[in-house]
Amino acid sequence: MNAVQQIIARPEVMQAIVIVGAFTVINFGLKILTNFYKYFLRPSKNLKKLGEWAVITGATDGIGKAYAFKLAKRGLNVVLISRTEAKLNAVKAEIEEKYPSVQVKVVICDYSDFNAKLRTKVEKAVKDLDVGVLVNNVGVSYQFPKYFSELNEEEVAGLMEMNVNSTTWMTHMVLPGMMERKRGAVVNIASAAGCHTMPLLAQYSAAKGYIAMFSRGLASECAKSNVTVSCQVPFYVATKLAKMRAAFTVPTPNQFADMALKWVGHGGDVVVHPFWLHAIMGWFIESIPSSLADGQMLSMHASIRKRGLKKMAKLAKGE
Ligand SMILES: NC(=O)c1ccc[n+]([C@@H]2O[C@H](COP(=O)([O-])OP(=O)(O)OC[C@H]3O[C@@H](n4cnc5c(N)ncnc54)[C@H](OP(=O)(O)O)[C@@H]3O)[C@@H](O)[C@H]2O)c1
Ligand SMILES: *[C@@H]1O[C@H](CO)[C@@H](O)[C@H](O)[C@H]1NC(C)=O
Ligand SMILES: *[C@@H]1O[C@H](CO)[C@@H](O)[C@H](O)[C@H]1NC(C)=O
Repeated sequence: MNAVQQIIARPEVMQAIVIVGAFTVINFGLKILTNFYKYFLRPSKNLKKLGEWAVITGATDGIGKAYAFKLAKRGLNVVLISRTEAKLNAVKAEIEEKYPSVQVKVVICDYSDFNAKLRTKVEKAVKDLDVGVLVNNVGVSYQFPKYFSELNEEEVAGLMEMNVNSTTWMTHMVLPGMMERKRGAVVNIASAAGCHTMPLLAQYSAAKGYIAMFSRGLASECAKSNVTVSCQVPFYVATKLAKMRAAFTVPTPNQFADMALKWVGHGGDVVVHPFWLHAIMGWFIESIPSSLADGQMLSMHASIRKRGLKKMAKLAKGE
C-alpha cells in the first residue's frame, strides 16, 4: 500500500468520504426536486392582487408583446410602451378585441435616447396608476456577433441606453409606488448572455449582467416591502431580435411568456431561466471548465460573425 492508500484505508477517512458523498447526493437530489416543483407543479400567483395595471416596455413584438397578452389574459390592464405608434395601436386593438374587459394605454417612447424629457412623459403616463407588474423587456443586442472594436459609437451607446438606462430609469419611476403600496413585481428581462462569458457579444453580455446584479440587490432591498424583483434570463427565443426559428431549445415568444409568467411574484430566486431546458443549458455551461466553455462560445460566435459579414457585404453590393 502506498501512502495515499494507507490514508484512505483508515476508517475515519472512509467515514468522512461517505458522509461528504451522501451529503452531495442528497443536496443534488433536493435541488432537482425543488426545481421540478418550481418548474412544473407550483401554482402561479394571482397577479391581479399585485395591482390593477401592468407596464411593459418593448411591448409591440417578441417577448414583450407575448407578455402583454398573457398579463391581459390574467385580467390586468396594460400600458404598452414602444417606439412605433402604428404597431402600438395595432397591438392595443388586438388586446382590446381579445380581452374586452381590459384597459389598454399606449405610450410612444424611443428608448435609444431615454432623456429627461422623455422620462417625464413616461412618468406622467404611469404615475397615477396602481402598477402591480413592471416588465422591463425592451433591449437590443448586436446585429450579429462582432469584436467590441468593430462596434460603432451609435451601437455602443444603444447597448447602454436600451438595456441599462431603460431598465434603471423605468424601475426608478415605478418601484417607489410599489414599495409604498406594499405589493408589486418588477420583472427584468436580461439574457443568459449576461450570466456567462460571451466573446463577440461582450458589451451586450455586460449590459445584461448589469441587469442581473441590479435585480439581485433590489430584490433583497425590497423584500421587506413585499415587492419582488426578478431577472429572467432566456437563451434563444424565436423573435426578430434572435433571428431564429422556433426549435426544441428555442421557444416561441408565446411559449416563453407562458413559462415566464409562472415565476412572476414568487420571491426567492432572483435570476431565473423561466424555460427548464434553458436552465439545464445554463447548468451545463457552468459545470464544464470555463476555458472550454469560453473557447466553444468564441468559435460559435466567430462563425456567426463570418456569416453576418458576408450578408452585409452582399447587401452593400445590392444583391
Ligand atoms: N429573443 C431572444 O433570443 C432573446 C434572448 C435573450 C434575451 N432577450 C431579451 O428579451 C428582450 C426582448 O427581446 P425580443 O427578442 O422580444 O425583441 P424583439 O422581438 O426585437 O422586440 C423588441 C421590442 O422592443 C421594441 N423596441 C425596439 N427598439 C426600441 C426603441 N428604440 N425604443 C422603444 N422600443 C423599442 C420593439 O418595438 P418596435 O419594433 O415596434 O419599435 C419591440 O416591441 C430584450 O431585452 C432582449 O435582449 C431576447
Ligand atoms: C444613460 O443615462 C445616463 C445618466 O442619466 C446619461 O448620462 C447617458 O447619456 C445615458 N445614455 C448613455 C448611452 O449612456
Ligand atoms: C403582499 O402582497 C400580496 C400580493 O402579492 C398581498 O396579498 C399581501 O396582502 C401583501 N402583504 C402585505 C403584508 O402587505
